[in-house]
Amino acid sequence: MKTIFITGASTGLGKAAALLFQSNGWKVYATMRSTEKGKELMDLDNINVLELDVTKPEQINEVAAKVIADGGVDVVLNNAGYGLAGPAESLEDEQIVEQLNTNLLGVIRVTKAFIPYFREKKDGLFIAVTSLAGLIPVPVNSIYNTAKTGVEAFYESLAFELDNFNIVTKTVSPGIIKSAFRDNVQVGLMDEYMSTFQRGMQAMAFDTFDSTSEEIAAIVYEAVTDGKRQLNYVAGADAQRHYEHRLSLGRQGYVDYLNDYDPEG
Ligand SMILES: NC(=O)c1ccc[n+]([C@@H]2O[C@H](COP(=O)([O-])OP(=O)(O)OC[C@H]3O[C@@H](n4cnc5c(N)ncnc54)[C@H](OP(=O)(O)O)[C@@H]3O)[C@@H](O)[C@H]2O)c1
Repeated sequence: MKTIFITGASTGLGKAAALLFQSNGWKVYATMRSTEKGKELMDLDNINVLELDVTKPEQINEVAAKVIADGGVDVVLNNAGYGLAGPAESLEDEQIVEQLNTNLLGVIRVTKAFIPYFREKKDGLFIAVTSLAGLIPVPVNSIYNTAKTGVEAFYESLAFELDNFNIVTKTVSPGIIKSAFRDNVQVGLMDEYMSTFQRGMQAMAFDTFDSTSEEIAAIVYEAVTDGKRQLNYVAGADAQRHYEHRLSLGRQGYVDYLNDYDPEG
């Protein structure tokens, strides 16, 4: 039986992925900060709910050692994360540190905890949920963009570093998913940036973004099972549209597009 280890499986995409893999005959380690939130998953066959906060290095190493001793895993899905939006100058140092600690360092730590095990067995797949924000500069979202771009860079770097050991890395980059993410996003606001923020939102037509957790979980499942050497999966029509636009304009061209966008025109 194939086994997957998932972070942030209490809700949203992580939970949808846990359910999808389980229903396809996988054994699932569904990890979450509070196992109280895992009651529905606990009742299902072949799902083990474990406590894990990705900002706690000791806990990560303990949980990784436990599942490795328990039979090991084939796939590690780094999914845990939350949103932090707003102008960079409006955000407290604490908010920035916590964002990078969770969305970037959490992925690095969890991945690192499983590398020696995958290296020794010469087999393994790491997959991380990043975001369209890991591929393009989503407006007025610089710290989250930095965390997700960092994960993209980390996994692309590991694709070289771990290739000798038959370890594959992939990222899945969704646009917007209808989930608790919107309720949990931290937002810094400043009047001085309102027109910039609104121009950015209109240029990207964010209101048309609407993938479900189940749709993105299906893309994660495809990425895990398709056997392809493919670093990145741009997930959802919204993300694909914007990423293609960015590719067609180039880096400077896309920033110029956002800066010059005329909501009236
Ligand atoms: N929703 C979107 O629009 C969107 C778009 C692009 C990418 N993404 C990415 O997709 C992933 C899943 O998000 P989602 O939409 O499913 O949001 P969600 O429903 O809010 O789920 C986020 C999950 O991450 C967990 N989490 C947060 N901090 C954690 C920590 N320190 N340690 C362990 N788990 C932690 C949450 O746990 P608790 O229940 O304990 O809070 C929850 O299980 C995230 O990486 C997010 O950045 C989301």
